Amino acid sequence: MRILLAFFLAAAPVFSAPNTAVESRIQKILNRMTLSEKLGQLQQLGGPIEGSSQLMDLARHGKIGATLNVRGAKNLNALQRAAVEGSRLKIPILFGFDVIHGYRTIFPIPLAMASSWDPSLIEKVSRLAAQEATLDGLRWTFSPMVDITRDPRWGRVAEGAGEDPFLGAAMARAYVRGYQGENLSAPDSLAACAKHWVGYGAAEGGRDYSTTEISERTLREIYFPPFKAALDAGALTLMSAFNDLDGVPSSANPFTLTKVLRGEWKFPGFVVSDSNAISELIQHGIAANGAEAAQRALTAGVDMEMHSRLYEENLPTLIKSGLVAQSTVDEAVRRILRVKIALGLFKQPYADETRTSHTPDAAARKMARWAAVRSMVLLKNDGKTLPFSKNLKRVAVIGPLANDTAAELGSWIGNGRLEETITLLAGVRAALPNAKVIFASGCAMSGDSDAGFAKAVRAAQSSDAVVLALGEAGDMTGEATSRAFLNLPGPQINLAKAVLAVGKPTAVVLLNGRPLTLSTLTQRAPAILEAWQPGTEAGNAIADILFGNASPGGKLPMTFPFTLGQVPLYYNHKNTGRPAKDDDHYTSKYIDAPVTPLFPFGWGLSYTSTRLSNLTLSPQKITPDQKTIVHVFVENTGNRLGDEVVELYIRRRAASVTRPVAELKGFQRVTLKPGEKRQLKFDLGPKELGFYGLDMKYAVEPGEYEITVGTSSVGGLTAPLSVSN
Ligand code: NOJ
Repeated sequence: MRILLAFFLAAAPVFSAPNTAVESRIQKILNRMTLSEKLGQLQQLGGPIEGSSQLMDLARHGKIGATLNVRGAKNLNALQRAAVEGSRLKIPILFGFDVIHGYRTIFPIPLAMASSWDPSLIEKVSRLAAQEATLDGLRWTFSPMVDITRDPRWGRVAEGAGEDPFLGAAMARAYVRGYQGENLSAPDSLAACAKHWVGYGAAEGGRDYSTTEISERTLREIYFPPFKAALDAGALTLMSAFNDLDGVPSSANPFTLTKVLRGEWKFPGFVVSDSNAISELIQHGIAANGAEAAQRALTAGVDMEMHSRLYEENLPTLIKSGLVAQSTVDEAVRRILRVKIALGLFKQPYADETRTSHTPDAAARKMARWAAVRSMVLLKNDGKTLPFSKNLKRVAVIGPLANDTAAELGSWIGNGRLEETITLLAGVRAALPNAKVIFASGCAMSGDSDAGFAKAVRAAQSSDAVVLALGEAGDMTGEATSRAFLNLPGPQINLAKAVLAVGKPTAVVLLNGRPLTLSTLTQRAPAILEAWQPGTEAGNAIADILFGNASPGGKLPMTFPFTLGQVPLYYNHKNTGRPAKDDDHYTSKYIDAPVTPLFPFGWGLSYTSTRLSNLTLSPQKITPDQKTIVHVFVENTGNRLGDEVVELYIRRRAASVTRPVAELKGFQRVTLKPGEKRQLKFDLGPKELGFYGLDMKYAVEPGEYEITVGTSSVGGLTAPLSVSN
């Protein structure tokens, strides 16, 4: 018998089921609203307000529910005054902005933050981002982006937590808690927006905005969980995605927007469209005109329209003709007012103008530096090349990105400032005040000129050690930056060959926003540190690791392919009927490339070594509704303080449907002193062991499970778990 589970039942701590007092208050407001005022609440618009009276006018007439890209307490207060003091019903405006990885203090990009495998860090960092953003009058961020993605060609992988739903869900929860804080109506609470609902990360060909084809099972098991986690943590809003999902664009998809979101999950908040996503329904080819687009989006469940104004223009006629029910509009308004009330906007609509966003202070910088240190991943470290000695006399810092603040910050930098960012070069100089630090950029980020190579080689020759900074320019990741190649752009690999041929102890530091194909570099470079795009304190954090003030401990949240043709390549793939075997031609592999990745999901080294031992499960036999406790020892067997991320995976070899070869179901990052040994405990129960079976119901099927605990998605200790009725 399959035991069906009420999956995802946890109640939201801060935005739970609507209460009657609030609902009757909303109803009273609704009763007084004209249709034009209702449609105003469904409209989000952006743009500069200084010198433009358009937004002011709309606010005075109650024709705008939310803004984007307007910031600054003064600006926003002026606009709010027009709405609250100038409009008939005095409904406050909700001010939104893309606060993605920090507001003024810029933290590592979200892909890097996920590499920390440290949700408590993400919570702290997003709390600080919320504090900074709310000082500038904002109360809503379009973050976290919780799209799962298996294709590094997609430029937006930088904005997400990578390829795994379990890790993604942990990160999603942490962002929401951090942004929204403990009290939604506190002035420093920033409403979260989990985006992009849903499937956007599966864009065909890795091409941004492209079509997606995802089965319901894969949606439920891979793409939905981070969204559900965000909502369970109380996320107030969701953003509907640009992509076409099995023929029904996500911004007009009744299955995802209504059946799942409102029907199954009882989401009380509102959904905003992505920018112009409603008008793009025409290009998608499911609406002949703006009226049809508005009708499809609203009736499917998109409450607020970003940028385009098709609701406002078309809904009066659509309602009159009976094509859209008045109650559908009312419901959307209700959801928006619910969020505004929860945020306390009716009570306190204004920001405190005396306190504005300021240059990162010492505490903010300290947090940014720590977050960057925690998010870096040591990919390779032959012969203990790293850490370098702090007594080096001459160091060459080489590479086109070594002194490039834009590459260090990445995309979506909020109100961050290039001039407030510490470059790698500055960080190395600060860490080695008595050394001679020579800089040579070596090449540009594009073209094929090797004109700068000779100077770079001379710098390497005359130094005791080399730091070689390579990667992607700041504008090569984020929205609309899909790549058809995953190599180091421009002449960088040739620069690397030339510099590495000098033979000095060399550490490559990668500044990039996606997994890259690095097989040539990996063959030649003794040490590679994946620093991602580390933010305001980039250079200091990199130097902390290079010179051993901190030990790297991050792990990859996304597989690094060996070569481009392997993409999409992800650890939790299916076994197939013919899993790859070297000595069997007719198995699932390539004739011209390995089938395995260059660096697997969960991979990362540190400056120490660790050993896992004594994996036990108690009990080893459970019923489908029981849980087992997994214990394992982790020991620091090296002679330095260091971190390990202990990762727990499960596998089901025979089930009613095919299962992945491994599924992450637990992780813990620990810091251990030399010789320290600690026992870790993981719970494994119905939530972790269940899956969507042949009947598409979430359940634990009786049978045999393999429980593997390791330090990456490859290898580890394994023990059996038996589930029977
Ligand atoms: C488009 C992006 O897809 C979305 O993530 C972002 O929040 C909006 N633009 C608003 O800037």
